[in-house]
Amino acid sequence: MIAAPVLLTGATGFIGREVARRLLAAGRPVLALARGKEGEPAPDRVANALGCAPDGRHLGIIEGDLALPGCGLAASDWARLRSNVETVIHCAGETTFFPDDLLAFRQGHIDGPVALLHGLRGGRLRRWAHLSTAYVCGRRAGRVLESEGDLGQEFHNPYERVKLEAEGAVRRVGARLGVDVRVLRPSIVVGPAPATAGGTPANLFFDFIRLAARLARLADGTPVPLRIHAAPRARFNIVPLEYVAAAVVALAEHPGGVGETVHLVVSEPPTQEKMLDLITGRLGLRGLSLVDPGWLVDPSPLEGMVARMLSGYREYLQQDVRFDDSTARRVLGVCRVTAATLPPQAVHQLIDQALVKPMATRRFHAARRPDFTKI
Ligand SMILES: NC(=O)c1ccc[n+]([C@@H]2O[C@H](COP(=O)([O-])OP(=O)(O)OC[C@H]3O[C@@H](n4cnc5c(N)ncnc54)[C@H](OP(=O)(O)O)[C@@H]3O)[C@@H](O)[C@H]2O)c1
Repeated sequence: MIAAPVLLTGATGFIGREVARRLLAAGRPVLALARGKEGEPAPDRVANALGCAPDGRHLGIIEGDLALPGCGLAASDWARLRSNVETVIHCAGETTFFPDDLLAFRQGHIDGPVALLHGLRGGRLRRWAHLSTAYVCGRRAGRVLESEGDLGQEFHNPYERVKLEAEGAVRRVGARLGVDVRVLRPSIVVGPAPATAGGTPANLFFDFIRLAARLARLADGTPVPLRIHAAPRARFNIVPLEYVAAAVVALAEHPGGVGETVHLVVSEPPTQEKMLDLITGRLGLRGLSLVDPGWLVDPSPLEGMVARMLSGYREYLQQDVRFDDSTARRVLGVCRVTAATLPPQAVHQLIDQALVKPMATRRFHAARRPDFTKI
């Protein structure tokens, strides 16, 4: 007897594809709500992302778009979803910090999920796991608790503000409909990433490591004077993708997670200075330092190039925030998901991942037989 499918949004994205792979590998059927793009139908896009073909039994596709009225779903899709789905894992969302079309952005993040919740009313739906971001804290510094949301904070960009609004909207509707809403807030997720907007910070981090490796080869032991805009003592709030995906799968349905809001982070992240030391030490590169922006006078061409490369994240590299994850650790401890840590060996592993070839897009072959235990 096959279990009820999980309705997953965002399966073509950086985090959603990893969540889908884990669910499928654990024998959990997945219904992916996905959209077609540039002439490529949704089933092919999901198959390319996951490396396996939908078979309608383990992996099914519902073609929809959260930014469209009624999520772009047909009446028959709604009927199918209402009679099958008990759990939604909502990983979809544009991750651009400054969207060109704020209205469409809000529709995708707020109106779309709310419409999906309403549309599932009267069916089997019991719980909704909602991917948000730890950076709903905006520009706050110091310790941020999982129980904290809107404290009147300022935001770096519309992305953070809309993510916080979305949490509130989904919680309110969930409470009205009797659906258990769980809010999951990762920090900056890193790992081998596709070229999606959500994969940008991970790809940028890996690009920086590749650049450092090239400099180390060229310099051959000679110090390379390179000052980088970043607060040395601030925490470097990255979290490995494997932990985030394992935690999402566990927290979406575990009874200990009912109604919770959790930070999916490394509890004791290294400082940015320590992270730079670990990277340069591993690569045998000397001469790099972190400085406040005002201190970088007369930047060299190399320093200018690195500053431009990191410019989208400059303010995050100045922010010193510590995300408390007591609730996540308590619930995940019961689920036997090991807390994420970043000791030197784990950083070395990330460096090694960055130095293998960038992720290639796998192409979907209709003839490929799906093997859900090997994805
Ligand atoms: N990456 C991070 O470091 C990070 C950190 C914290 C929180 N998060 C959150 O985690 C979630 C997933 O992020 P990600 O990194 O996986 O992003 P991503 O790689 O950019 O993927 C976004 C996913 O959302 C889908 N999507 C976007 N708009 C949609 C719409 N209107 N209708 C249906 N699907 C839509 C995309 O589908 P298409 O392929 O069709 O575009 C894609 O599958 C987001 O909510 C993000 O805010 C990410």
